[in-house]
Amino acid sequence: MNLKGRNLLKILDFTPEELTYLIDLAADLKEKKKNGISTTDHHTGKNIALIFEKTSTRTRCSFEVAANDLGMHTTYLDPSGSQIGKKESIADTARVLGRLYDGIEYRGFDQSIVEDLARYAGVPVWNGLTNQSHPTQILADLLTIREKFGHLEGIKMTYMGDARYNMANSLMAGCAKMGMHFTACTSKNYFPDADVVDQCRAVAEQTGATITLTDNVEEGVKDADVIYTDVWVSMGEPDEVWEERIRELSPYQVNAAAMKLAGPQAIFMHCLPAFHDLNTEIGRKISEKFGINEMEVTDEVFESAQSVVFDEAENRMHTIKAVMDATL
Ligand code: CP
Ligand code: NVA
Repeated sequence: MNLKGRNLLKILDFTPEELTYLIDLAADLKEKKKNGISTTDHHTGKNIALIFEKTSTRTRCSFEVAANDLGMHTTYLDPSGSQIGKKESIADTARVLGRLYDGIEYRGFDQSIVEDLARYAGVPVWNGLTNQSHPTQILADLLTIREKFGHLEGIKMTYMGDARYNMANSLMAGCAKMGMHFTACTSKNYFPDADVVDQCRAVAEQTGATITLTDNVEEGVKDADVIYTDVWVSMGEPDEVWEERIRELSPYQVNAAAMKLAGPQAIFMHCLPAFHDLNTEIGRKISEKFGINEMEVTDEVFESAQSVVFDEAENRMHTIKAVMDATL
C-alpha cells in the first residue's frame, strides 16, 4: 500500500483496504509509542502547517504531538492569525504554503475550501474538520471500535442527534466503507442529506453495510454495539438555533434508557467536546436560558463504564500520526 502524496479530504475518497491500512498503521504506531520506540527518524526535519479557522483542543494537539513524534516541526495559524479568505484567496495561500511546507492541515468552514487548498498546494492536505466532514475523527473512532470489539465488519452503530453535519456524514461513510450497519436515529428534520445517504448506500452495496434512518428511538438503538452522539449546535452556527435544537433533539439524548435498550455490550462514543454537565460556560448559559443541565448525553452515561470517549480522544493522535506517516 502506497499512500504517499495523497490528501485526506473525506472518508469516501478512500477504499476499505486503504482505511484498514491506516488503522493498522495507527495501531502499530500506538504500540511503538507505548513501548518507548522512537519514530522521530520517519520524517526528520519536515515542516507542516496547521490552519485552524475554528477552535480545537484534540485535533490541534494531536497534530502537534504526532508531528513531534515523527521528527517534524509545526506552524500553527489560529482562527484570527492568517490572511486566508480575507485578504488572500485559498488558491494563493495554498501556492505559498505549498512552497514552504511538506503538508498542510486545514480546519474551517465549507468542504470546498479544503478541496481548493488540496488542488493548489502541491503537498498533502489533511482535513481537520469542515462543516461537511471530519475524516481524522472517524479514523480514531474506527480504531477505537476495533480495539473494543476486535473487528469492524457487522458492527451496528447508532448515531443520535444532528445527523446533517460533519460527524454523521463521515461516520455514515466510514460505516459504509467498513461493512458496518449505520443508523441515524433522530428527528426527521435532522436526517442526513439525501445525496450523502445515496453515496453511502452505493458503497454499502459493495461492502455488506446498511444505512438506516429512523425517528423511532426504540427501533434505532435496539441491539446497537455503538451509540454515538455529537453536540447539538456545531462550531460556526448561530446562537439562535439552540431553542429549536433542544426542542427537536431532546428525545434523542443519549441517556441510561437508550443505553439499556441497546444492551450491555454497547459502548458510548462522542467526538468531544460534550455538554454533559454544567462545568462549561456554554453549558451554564444554556441551563439558565432553557432550564436543562445536560444536553446530547447525560452525565451518567458519559461517566459510565460503557463510555469510551477518552480512548477515542487518545486515538486521535495515533491515527493522525498514521495519516501523516503514510502520506508524506
Ligand atoms: N473532536 C474534535 O475534533 O475535537 P477538537 O474540536 O477539540 O479538535
Ligand atoms: N459537529 C461538531 C464536531 C466537533 C468535533 C462541530 O462541528 O462543532
